[in-house]
Amino acid sequence: MSRIDQVLARIDSNLDDSLNRLFDFLKIKSISADPDFQEDCEAAANWLARELTEVGIAASVRRTDGHPMVVGHRKTGKPGPHVLFYGHYDVQPVDPLELWDTDPFEPRIVTREDGSKVIVARGSADDKGQLMTFVEAARAYMEIAGDLPLDITVLFEGEEESGSPSLEPFLIENKDELSCDLALVCDTNMWDEDTPAIAVMLRGLVGEEITVKAASRDLHSGYYGSAATNPNHVIAKIIADIRDENGTITLDGFYDGVIDMPQDVTRMWDTLGMTAEKFLGEIGLAVPGGEKDRTLLEQIWTRPTAEVNGMWGGYQGAGSKTVIPAEAHAKFTFRLVGDQDPQKIQASFRDYVRSKTPQDCSVEFSSHGANPALRLDFDMPALAQGKKALQDEWGVEAALIGMGGSIPVVGDFKTMLGMDSLLIGFGLADDQIHSPNEKYNLKCFHKGIRSWARVLDELAQG
Ligand code: BES
Repeated sequence: MSRIDQVLARIDSNLDDSLNRLFDFLKIKSISADPDFQEDCEAAANWLARELTEVGIAASVRRTDGHPMVVGHRKTGKPGPHVLFYGHYDVQPVDPLELWDTDPFEPRIVTREDGSKVIVARGSADDKGQLMTFVEAARAYMEIAGDLPLDITVLFEGEEESGSPSLEPFLIENKDELSCDLALVCDTNMWDEDTPAIAVMLRGLVGEEITVKAASRDLHSGYYGSAATNPNHVIAKIIADIRDENGTITLDGFYDGVIDMPQDVTRMWDTLGMTAEKFLGEIGLAVPGGEKDRTLLEQIWTRPTAEVNGMWGGYQGAGSKTVIPAEAHAKFTFRLVGDQDPQKIQASFRDYVRSKTPQDCSVEFSSHGANPALRLDFDMPALAQGKKALQDEWGVEAALIGMGGSIPVVGDFKTMLGMDSLLIGFGLADDQIHSPNEKYNLKCFHKGIRSWARVLDELAQG
């Protein structure tokens, strides 16, 4: 049996143990956004450093101003490229908790009507299950070959779901240690459950939170109604006018740098057979809500967005309270594409909000990150190697896809460490990441591990 076949056989026989390890990891409540879970984030970092070291990738937990990083190295002295594998151990908050069928941090296997099995837990797909596909591939490789096929550095971060505030300083401080020939990232999706994919476009992200302050205290809405500006109304108007009736975003200069896809690419996408009925039907919707003159795939992959992720202000309790609140709040995110400049979008948004704020009110801003969109080089040799490895495992050609989501680190790898990334992931559209009942298909976990073993082998062969 060839070495790779032996490694694959070991992956198959290790599967139950791999799953048990993933379950231990999933039980750790590493919600990066909520300070109450800071110790859990520490625990997840410690768990990973122990696990990597056990595999043979000597790892340590590294302090930052926020949640720690985990960095590991395996030097093999082999001639192939030196690759850096990146994943994130933090997860999104679990609310609304009442919509989960079971505890989000008590992972379980659910067998579905068609007999397929899924792992249900917060982080199962985003990104703990995904990053463990790589760790388990490395483990099987080490067990069979006594070493890895090429030099590997591992970087696990704990703030990806919160805009990665500590990442830039960490990359600058540890530039020499982390600069490799290529980054491997496992945080994206397959095309469908039988068709693997490599993501070649990711949207960027600008996150902004605003607080509009009006009167110096909450007011009686009869005594002061109409005369005193209501900050909820101010925010409602800001939100309402950010898109026009065609779904076009109204911020000044917003579309500067948005690039239309070449026709051959959009034609290829037309052949993928994705329809609004299919994509939206699964989530109980039917009518695309974005720019009216754009196709569904354009709306989710190649066009920028403006979304309100949360808005609050005034009385939220039971019954009625006749009050005009003193302040109101909203959180916005803009997904960016092409060459849109995050700093310019942030400035344009702030100007827009100020222009809509009455003169006797004030507005405060805080940033939740500003990262550009990303397009990978279609001629990058690693792309062809990744495609070959995936085809060997899945028996069908890998699709090159866009991703509506954002993985800020990929841009930083390029600009700060001069490193391209190969984005291979095994998530599926119905994984419900960031939502209740997040799941990861067992088949994706298993074949994901096998895929990474093949990718490493392929990259080592050059
Ligand atoms: N894994 C996702 C990115 C993704 C989204 C992949 C959808 C496949 C489908 C990633 O972990 C993520 O959620 N990123 C955040 C980044 C943000 C908080 C800066 C996102 O896109 O919201």
